[in-house]
This record gives sequence, structure tokens and C-alpha cells, in this order.
Amino acid sequence: MIFAAIMGYGVVGSGVFELLESNTQTKLSRQVKVKRVLDLRAFSGDKVETCLTHSPDDILNDDTISIVVEVMGGLNPAYAYTKRALQRGKSVVTSNKELVSVHGSELLNIARANGVRYLFEASVGGGVPVIRALRHTLLCEDVYQIAGILNGTTNYILSEMNSLDLPFAEILKQAQEKGFAEREPSADIEGFDAARKLSILLSLSCGKYVNYSKIPTEGISRLSADDFAVARSYDSVIRLIAKAEIKDGVVEAIVAPMLVQEGTSMFAGVKDVYNAIMITSTATDNHMFYGRGAGKMPTAGAIAGDIAEILSGHEDDLKWSPDEAIMADPMDIVSSRVLRLSGHVTDKTISTLENICGSQPSVIHSPTKGQSVYILPPIKEREFLYLVNTIQSDKGVKIESTQRVFADR
Ligand code: HSE
Repeated sequence: MIFAAIMGYGVVGSGVFELLESNTQTKLSRQVKVKRVLDLRAFSGDKVETCLTHSPDDILNDDTISIVVEVMGGLNPAYAYTKRALQRGKSVVTSNKELVSVHGSELLNIARANGVRYLFEASVGGGVPVIRALRHTLLCEDVYQIAGILNGTTNYILSEMNSLDLPFAEILKQAQEKGFAEREPSADIEGFDAARKLSILLSLSCGKYVNYSKIPTEGISRLSADDFAVARSYDSVIRLIAKAEIKDGVVEAIVAPMLVQEGTSMFAGVKDVYNAIMITSTATDNHMFYGRGAGKMPTAGAIAGDIAEILSGHEDDLKWSPDEAIMADPMDIVSSRVLRLSGHVTDKTISTLENICGSQPSVIHSPTKGQSVYILPPIKEREFLYLVNTIQSDKGVKIESTQRVFADR
């Protein structure tokens, strides 16, 4: 019998408890029993009550507990508890992407020095086993492209905005009422959650620390019903895309809402809380990972998978150095865009568009009267900013919005 403890009895923690206490361990050579659950709250009448503790020492100082599931979220006190657990010879399994993205390299090294494991499959993609692929299957080749939908909450909101034609604030409220979005939703809707997940995938891919705060990140909170109407008239949907390239050791990455063309990109068909991640590597080329990216039981399932890996006794060959990876200049990122203008588009603005784009930009049907919608060819971020400044100097015309167009590579 292996004894485990769970730190944090929230949505994911209670899912892990439920899964480990259910009769699903028949394929494991040894059984795992939850001995302690740490939470500051009381859960009277809940089946967790008999093993509930309010003191981390009841877990960290108990030498019979060999696996700790850390699902508290946030950096503190999760960082200190994880370190202590690893130093006491306990393996730690987590879904905590904040902690993994910032301290993953250090915690892996501490785990290795103490002969235990630090596993974090559930930190990216919920129930989708993408980290396992990077940690095992693809270790002998170079991963040079990653693109995907890494946040379930925003994908749910974007899918609903598209099909119900309601404003962002209304859909967010509904998502919160249904428990799909957090009461404090900024990490999801402003793209930081996706940036953290992308940084973890990139750190594993290039073997160096990719600092998520250096990834240019745009969220979905400013999207309007008109943006969705424009996307539809271009046979597209809007998705929050996280994408990156690793070239000659330099990482170029971005998180932003993008138009994804239906019938061309598989990402257009990814709806609700589903995630999809395309990883491209030198030998095996494209791999697509798809599944539930958020939610109690899918995340609990990923954690249980890591626990099963610990029982199998593998060692980690993963290299993740604390040295920071070189990031490309965000101004050099090339994107095609839609640009929606209102007012009187003067000859001066048209000729600026032509000069920057190298040819006349395509015009698409504008679903809103009095507005013009252009598709710009791929241009660098700095060229686009110059274009924005020039257009803004033209008093009669206003930039209503702009989104990048996702290109499958
Ligand atoms: N808030 C996250 C999401 C949870 O919506 O994807 C899973 O990491």
C-alpha cells in the first residue's frame, strides 16, 4: 500500500480524492490510499473529513506518506511545501502551472537530488497527455513548433460568443454561474494562463527556462460581437491561440486571439473547454493532442496518471536548465491581420496600407454598415504599429479593431 496526501481540497483536489477512493486502481500493481488532505476549511459531513488536516506538518513530517498531490495553486505556500516534500523524499504531483512555469527547473533538480519525482502533466492541457509526450516520446528529437488552444475557459467563452452572438461580459457571467470561469477570471481571459502553459511546453522543448512574462500576450476581453461577425464573413472563428517557434536556439512566442479559418485549420473545430496542441518535431513531424483542457475529473485523471508513473519507478531524463532561453524581439513577429476601420477611409490611408503591405490589401465584406474590413498580408509587428500610428494621424478614420489571422504551418 502506498500512502498519498492531497494539498488543497478544491475542485481538482476533490476530484483526485474521488478518483483514488473509487474502485479504479485495478490495473496498478500497488494500491494508493489517501491518508491526509490539507485544507484550511472544514468539510463536515464530507467523506474527506476523516483524513482532513489543517496543518501541512501532518503531511510533510509523516514518513509513511510517499506521494504528495499539490493542487493548491499559486506560488505561495505551494512552493515552500513542494520543496519541503521533495527534500523529505516524497514525490510531488501537481496541476499548478504558476509554480511549474516559474520554479519547474529548480523543483525538478531538488526531486532528482532526493531520488524522487516532480510530475506536472495536469499543469498543461488538463487531461491531455502532452507533457508526457515531451518528457518521453520526443526526448530524442528537436521540437521546433508549438501551436494550440491551451485555455479551456476562454475557448468555452469564444465558442459561446460565436454561437449565441452575445457580448463578452454576458457570456463571462454565464460561464461564472456555470462554474466554468473563476470569479477572478483575469488569468484566463487576459491570456496569462495560456502564456504560462506555453512557457512550460517551451521550457521542456528547448531545455531552458522560458519566462512567461516575456511572451507577448493579449487576452479576449476586448472582443466584440462585430469581431465575430467579421470572422464569420471570412469563414473563420476566433480562438485564443498560443504559438511558438524555436529556431537556432531563439524562441519566438505569442498568445493572442486569432481568426482561424474553418475547413483549413483543425483548431477551428475545437469547441467548449477542449484544448488542442500541435507539436512539430524534427523526426516525427506533426503531432496533434486533443481533449478536455479543464475540469475536475479530466485534471484529476492526469494527476492519477502521474501517480501511476511514480509507481512504475521510472527515472526522469528530462533536462530543464535554469538558464533563460533567448527570446526573439516581439517586434519581429510576423502576422497576417484583419483590420476594421470606421469613418472616411481617405486616399492617404489607402496608400499607407498599400505601401506597408506591398500591394493593395484585400477587402472583405463588412457586416457592419459604415465600416471597412481589410485583410493585411503577413507583416512584422513593428510595421503594423507604424501603420496604426499613420492611420491614427488621419482624423476622419478610426481603427475599430484588429486581430491576427492564424496560419497553419
Ligand atoms: N483555468 C484553466 C483553463 C484551468 O481554463 O484552461 C485548466 O488549467
